[in-house]
Amino acid sequence: MTRYSLNRRRIHWLIAGCVLALVPVGLWMVARGEANLWDTLTNTLYGIHKATGFTVLLLMALRIAFKLRSADPAYPADFPKMQRIAAKSLHHLFYVLLVTVPLLGWAGVTAFPALIVFPGLDLPPMPFVPVDEALALRLFQIHGALAISLALLVLGHVGGALWHLVIRKDGMFQRMWFGD
Ligand code: HEM
Repeated sequence: MTRYSLNRRRIHWLIAGCVLALVPVGLWMVARGEANLWDTLTNTLYGIHKATGFTVLLLMALRIAFKLRSADPAYPADFPKMQRIAAKSLHHLFYVLLVTVPLLGWAGVTAFPALIVFPGLDLPPMPFVPVDEALALRLFQIHGALAISLALLVLGHVGGALWHLVIRKDGMFQRMWFGD
């Protein structure tokens, strides 16, 4: 059985868990903000979202470093070429979105500015981003739209992984799973 390196498997599931939390928390906090419910719960949701999103950005830096250091395991010889291309393209798109989406969120909170995570803990401002509320709102719009696109692609990705695990039973899922 050829698998991704242990570090790449660990970081894959860590980021997957973060994204799984980020999307519903993001939608919930925005809905509460739009309903003008600016209470402790809303502020906590924003804090959790910013901290988790920023963590994804840091984990992505590590993930890219791991990817550059260890080759992907080879696909089975009978894995069709078109599916190979589709899988690789989707994986590259994930890398792009998993860097762009948190960068846009961080740029937005820098421009707003709303860098506070919890009382006494602020994120660092993104370098070269001016304080400009109109810019922040635009950045949040793009952040939200790309995050929803990311969530939809994740659904397709999970569907594909389950198809390999349950229907094709070709060991593709196990490449990203744990064991020896
Ligand atoms: C992979 C990482 C991230 C994902 C998947 C994600 C996802 C989301 C989603 C789904 C929303 C709701 C969009 C809407 O309903 O319009 C949202 C909103 C938001 N996110 Fe993120 N986010 C991520 C990273 C970050 C980071 C790093 C920050 C800041 C440091 C951040 C700050 C915000 C803020 C402030 C909003 C509210 C924007 C508004 O009020 O319109 N996000 N995010």
